Amino acid sequence: MIDLQHVTKIYGQGDVRVTALEDVSLHVERGEMVAIMGPSGSGKSTLMNLIGCLDRPTTGKYVLAGRDVSTLNDNQLARVRNREIGFVFQTFNLLPRLNALQNVELPLVYRREPRAARVRKAMAALEMVGLGERMHHHPNQLSGGQQQRVAIARALVGEPSILLADEPTGNLDSRAGEEIMAIFQELNQQGITLVLVTHDERVARHCRRIIRVLDGRLVGDEPVTAPLRAVPVHSDQEAAQA
Ligand SMILES: Nc1ncnc2c1ncn2[C@@H]1O[C@H](COP(=O)(O)OP(=O)(O)OP(=O)(O)O)[C@@H](O)[C@H]1O
Ligand SMILES: [Mg+2]
Repeated sequence: MIDLQHVTKIYGQGDVRVTALEDVSLHVERGEMVAIMGPSGSGKSTLMNLIGCLDRPTTGKYVLAGRDVSTLNDNQLARVRNREIGFVFQTFNLLPRLNALQNVELPLVYRREPRAARVRKAMAALEMVGLGERMHHHPNQLSGGQQQRVAIARALVGEPSILLADEPTGNLDSRAGEEIMAIFQELNQQGITLVLVTHDERVARHCRRIIRVLDGRLVGDEPVTAPLRAVPVHSDQEAAQA
């Protein structure tokens, strides 16, 4: 599904060159659920942006779903991205003037789907994340966890094969974080490939594989062996209090 081969990413030129990724090779099969961990500035978001076709590698090759996407132009890349990838962000990135249903419909508006189909699919996506009762609420009328669930529904409505999430629980308390991870696990069981970035080892252990990044290099890749139930998610605040 995801096949990065000796990928390097360099930002800027001359004196301000930053090597964000160096010789990264990573293979993720269809149906995997993978966490990417590493310190701030290690290259996690850069890696996610490449995987999600938001950016191209400086050198190396990226084969996504059997197709070499490392040399596509911006329009071609956008088309692959729209078809294959759903994104979830730490800060939810919902449009405040639109209600939940309208936010979820948005990707289908860009795809020029007819209104009836849009509404039907957006409602189904919101039901899937347990927000069937909140479709007409605006983001400021929803909790953080509920807003993130709307964002997940929006990411899913176009039926992507890969869901990418950069610190999806970073702005949530432990309970909301648990709920989000439970939704991700359920989606993964339904077959979606999931890659998420987290600083939190307890969040990562809800995945089935953990990749570690340090200074732009992959330094670890191991399966998660501990039983999921035994590892609850706690917020940093709670950890500090404990
Ligand atoms: N657009 C950019 N232009 C120049 N340098 C960049 C750009 N984006 C990221 N970098 C640099 O690349 C390196 C990796 O950044 P990246 O955002 O991938 O780290 P990260 O692991 O996601 O960090 P964090 O945990 O803080 O989100 C950093 O040194 C960063 O300063
Ligand atoms: Mg980042």
